[in-house]
Order: sequence, then C-alpha cells, then structure tokens
Amino acid sequence: MRPRAWFQAVDDESERYPLTEVIYRSKSGGLLEVVHDLEALRSRSPAAWIRTFDERYGRTRWPYGSGVWSKHEWVQPHVSPQNVVSLYEGNTNLFWAERYGKEYVGLPDLWVKQCGTSHTGSFKDLGMTVLVSSVKEMIAAGKPIRAVACASTGDTSAALAAYGAAAAIPVVVLLPKGKITAAQLVQPIANGALVCALDTDFDGCMRVVQRLTEDPGLYLANSMNSLRVEGQKTISFEIVQQFDWEVPDWVLVPGGNLGNVSAIAKGFLEMLEVGLISRLPRLVCCQAEKANPLYRAYQRAAEAGRDLELADFEPMEAEPTLASAIRIGDPVSLPKAVRALVSCRGVVEQASESELADAAARADRTGMFNCPHTGVALACLEKLVAAGTIEKDERVVVISTAHGLKFTEFKAAYHRGELPFDAPLANQPIELGSDPDEVVDAIHRVLDERE
Ligand SMILES: Cc1ncc(COP(=O)(O)O)c(C=O)c1O
Repeated sequence: MRPRAWFQAVDDESERYPLTEVIYRSKSGGLLEVVHDLEALRSRSPAAWIRTFDERYGRTRWPYGSGVWSKHEWVQPHVSPQNVVSLYEGNTNLFWAERYGKEYVGLPDLWVKQCGTSHTGSFKDLGMTVLVSSVKEMIAAGKPIRAVACASTGDTSAALAAYGAAAAIPVVVLLPKGKITAAQLVQPIANGALVCALDTDFDGCMRVVQRLTEDPGLYLANSMNSLRVEGQKTISFEIVQQFDWEVPDWVLVPGGNLGNVSAIAKGFLEMLEVGLISRLPRLVCCQAEKANPLYRAYQRAAEAGRDLELADFEPMEAEPTLASAIRIGDPVSLPKAVRALVSCRGVVEQASESELADAAARADRTGMFNCPHTGVALACLEKLVAAGTIEKDERVVVISTAHGLKFTEFKAAYHRGELPFDAPLANQPIELGSDPDEVVDAIHRVLDERE
C-alpha cells in the first residue's frame, strides 16, 4: 500500500481535502490537520521502518539525508523528491546536559535537543522545508502561486525567506516593528524577501497575513498551515531514534503559537499507533509569564480539578518579554495544543523574566549558549523538578528552539546588568592595559578571588 495523507478538519473527520489544495481552514472556520493513512504505514512492520530510518540517517542519498525527509512517507508523501526544497535540516544533536542536570537541577538523565543548530538557527526550518517543498510541487502542477507569506516573531520569517530563496519562490514577511532581534531581521532581508515591519504586535501581523492570503496566489506559511506541523513532528522521531528507539519520560518545549507542542505530540502519537514505540512521554508546554494564556487556562482547569478544555482559554494581550519569539496572546494552534496536552498527560508551566534569564545563564555556565525561549523551558524544568512533578530518576528532554546567537541583545543586557532585576551570574570583561606583568598579575588576582 502506498503512503498517503490529506488535510482533515480537526472537528469533523469526514471533511477532507488533498494536500495540493490551497486551504487553511475547515468549512466551520476551524483548524485543519494532516492525517496519514496509518493502515498504509502499518503495511510495513515497525522493525522495517526503524531499519529504513536508521539506514537513511544523515546519509547523502537525496533527500533522505535531511532529518525531515528521512521520514518522507510519514511527513508529506505527495511531494516527489525532485520538488523537495531542503537545506539538510534536522538531525540536530541531542546532548547529555550532564553538568547542568546534576549541579543545577538534580537530574542526572537530562538531555537537550538543539533544534537551533540548524540552517537559519531555529526549529522553524523543519516545518518550512515541508511547506516550501509542497508549494514547489503545487507550482509544478500548475497552481498559480505568486509568493509565500507569513507573519512572524522573527524565526518563521528567517526560515521562510531561506527556503523561498533556495527554491526561487518569492517571499513576503510581516513582522511586528521593533519587536524582533537584529539578527532575526537581517535574515529575510539578506535572503531577498519582501520584508514589511508593521506597527502592531505578532497577533496583529497574524490577522493581516490571514487577510493577505485570502488571495489564493499568496500562500500562507504560518503554522496554522498544518504542512508545517508535519516537518516539526520529526523532532519526536529524532528523539526516539537518538535514544535507540526508547521514549523519554518527559519532553519540555517553549510555547507561543503552540504549533510546536502540537507537532511533537502528533509525532509521538503516530509512532505509537503504528507500533514504533509502546508508550508516550509526558509533555510540558513552557510559557513566559508575560505571554501565558495557556498557563492561565491550565490553572483554571486545575482549580476545577479536571483536564484542560478549550473553554478554559481566554486570549490576552501579550506583554513584552525577553522571550520575544513567544510573545503571543492568541495562539493559532490552540485547539491542537489542548488535544496534544490531554493525550500526553501534559503540564503547562510558566517562567518569569528573571527566572528565564537566570536559568539560561546557569545552563550557559555549563557550556550551553541558550536563547531566551530555551531559558523559559529550563526555568520551567527547574521548577517542576523542585515541585516533585518531574522525578529525579526520570529521563527528560528539553527542546532548545533557537540558537543563542540570534538573541545576543538579551544575553549582553544580562551580563551588563542592564535588565530590570538582579543578574547573579553577570560576567563582564576586565579592561586592562598592555603591560604583560600587570595583565598577568590581574589575571592571577581574579583567579584567586574566584577559587
Ligand atoms: C525560538 C522559538 N521558540 C519557541 C517558539 C514557539 O513555537 P510555537 O509558536 O510553535 O509555540 C518560537 C515560535 O515562534 C520560536 O521562534
């Protein structure tokens, strides 16, 4: 049986569309998701899939060397290899955070999945390769698509601009003016995208891009477009593959628009249904306290003593946060995220500005170089271990969503002591002259003080 997949309404399984159709919402205005023919995937045994995935891992045979396209049949079976637009994304390192785990968290089996060690420096490359490849396939089939467009808190636009440029497909990005970092802004500029800085926040940009893409010639690239989710779900496949097909106890991920948390759950659920794994990990969605609508909903459900429900949710105006890429008050993927958290016995935790900055700095002291969103996830981890929710003998994976070098303003301000709270780990350069004896003396003095 050949693998196949289709768009399906999240709230009505009889409503289906081919993946080549330009459509983002169901008839009732709800979300769509990509559904795979699991019977077709089951026509090969789990052992055969595992063997295939292990054979493809990081090799050069196009397009399987990509972490995403090594799972081609499970991701987007209707894109032919010649239309794949890949920068060999994925296969990011999953490293044992031994010193941070043991010294700062009390968790010896802690791992960090470095999704920011990627072409444009964030996990967004995973979804974007699938979306842009699907667009290339549609254009090849005669669909009149002039450009691909997204609203972004910085990382989505960087990924879209890079993949669009690789495929020679024009890109339009809508950014909230003054609310993204310099590194994030220069990426789409360098890749030649049409960059629009709007005088609003991300939620405002999202409203505009939905209006813009009512024109079928302008294709929507936000994670509301569930093709993106298909690429992002390969994070889960990679985690279990990197653990020799074992499932960790917990996966923590920073959440803004909530596409990623939905994607990660989807990956684990599909592997479970086809038999590649035999249990699910528990998920934690980690929010910044300044942009925490899902955390608030989770608290409401907890107070009522029941699982999270959509009705618990109220959108909010997200406040400025150091974790600028998750400054979102009205997440588009909310219904999928609620379902994901319920299926994976999920928890929602939050981190304040000083908690996220200190957690990032503590982990940096053990050799990492974290972005503020990863700081949110690490701070939430520290809180959940301290509360006993995560037990000390459990295996935990934290998803690091972006490279710290995209967020140097945050780190520099912390170390210069310019943030509006104490920075206990601030580290400043010592300014010295050029006299060798004086420099050597000064270095010895500081090393003695630090001992
Ligand atoms: C670095 C980073 N971390 C986390 C997120 C949150 O992902 P999601 O919006 O899918 O919840 C984003 C999304 O913009 C991001 O850029």
